[in-house]
Amino acid sequence: MPRPLPENLDLSRLPRHVAIIMDGNGRWAQRRGLSRIEGHKRGKDSVRAVVEASRRIGIEYLSLFAFSTENWERPRREVDALMSLLQRYLRTELHRMMKNGIRLVAVGDLRRLPPRLQADLEATVQATRNNRDMTVVLAVSYGGREDIVQAARALAQAARDGRIDPERIDASTFAAYLSTAGIPDPDLLIRTSGELRISNFFLWPLAYSEIYVTDTLWPDFREAEFYQALIAYQQRERRFGRVPAERERERLRVAR
Ligand code: FPP
Repeated sequence: MPRPLPENLDLSRLPRHVAIIMDGNGRWAQRRGLSRIEGHKRGKDSVRAVVEASRRIGIEYLSLFAFSTENWERPRREVDALMSLLQRYLRTELHRMMKNGIRLVAVGDLRRLPPRLQADLEATVQATRNNRDMTVVLAVSYGGREDIVQAARALAQAARDGRIDPERIDASTFAAYLSTAGIPDPDLLIRTSGELRISNFFLWPLAYSEIYVTDTLWPDFREAEFYQALIAYQQRERRFGRVPAERERERLRVAR
């Protein structure tokens, strides 16, 4: 039985895109005298819980920072364990993605992944590409700066080949060269484990996202806290660099 939704969660005002930095697996494990890998295993259960909760309430896009370009520097054993966990996740979740209409998109430097994981990722992306109910964006071997650099390189190449006029490059042209092209910018970024950093995640797409940070470690972050983050988001006023809507209306009244 799914738990009842919180009464103060307004399903008509959900963020369209939620992005998550899933942090704190290592600390969760160390506090229990377990290996860091146990923390990642438990973190996989939180991934499943948050994907299911998002699908249930109608979030359109959910992005998960599963492995950063910097994570390659971790001990070999931990990197290998994370790669196998991702692979196992793809294999066990495919039927659920198909049943629930979930499309999987992968962003990052996928060529660095072990060939078997690359193949599974590609197969899952292909198998789910026509699913329409929700999109899960998996950021693997992803770095925000690296994505901006590869976009700049591709644009420079296009300009050199005469396919694009440098004078006409604007923010939307640039965004079309990022690996996140076609995905709306996140409305809400959630980061677990209390760190106040972006950590080279979606640098460009996060320009105007609301940020919610919780001290809860990722393996303990489940459905109930996810809803709390959405409720906190609904209490924010998003201005995108403009003045608050009500103050602007007041200003116009006074000026008249
Ligand atoms: C950060 O915790 C987490 C990661 C580097 C990996 C995230 C991976 C998972 C949640 C598991 C599998 C993912 C999927 C999509 C199935 P940390 O190790 O940096 O924790 P710490 O800061 O406490 O050391």
